[in-house]
Amino acid sequence: MNASDRDLDPLIQAAQAARERAYVPYSRYPVGAAVLTEDGHIVTGCNIENASYPLTCCAERVALFAAVAQGHRRFRALAVVTSNGGSPCGSCRQVMREFAPTMTVIIADTAGNRRLTTVADLLPDSFGPEHLPTGSGGGGA
Ligand code: THU
Repeated sequence: MNASDRDLDPLIQAAQAARERAYVPYSRYPVGAAVLTEDGHIVTGCNIENASYPLTCCAERVALFAAVAQGHRRFRALAVVTSNGGSPCGSCRQVMREFAPTMTVIIADTAGNRRLTTVADLLPDSFGPEHLPTGSGGGGA
């Protein structure tokens, strides 16, 4: 299920607030994300960097992993907010695809600009749980 445009304002605001909590001493590029669960909860994330640089985790994955850890597995939309409308990285696209291959993705900036896309458009011809012999993922263990 996709969310309609107006429904997305609180989600973008939540991502914007999460961006304020980013831990970015190395890149100085704060990112905020928020996911809207199918039952209407909003779970947020920010990017969290590390002195061992590759350990950094993007805001989108922090939000999605937090949501899954809180018991959510079905998502309507994810919003990401940066200073300049940066697009989700490939790793985050793959993690979005695991749980919500058709959800809406809102890419916003701090000036209030936004564009709507979908996980399917961001990651065409993707690999997913159904390609594995263990089956469909999502609702299982
Ligand atoms: N970053 C995100 O949080 N999300 C993305 O999709 C792209 C990049 C973060 C990682 C790092 O903290 C900083 O932006 C610069 O790469």
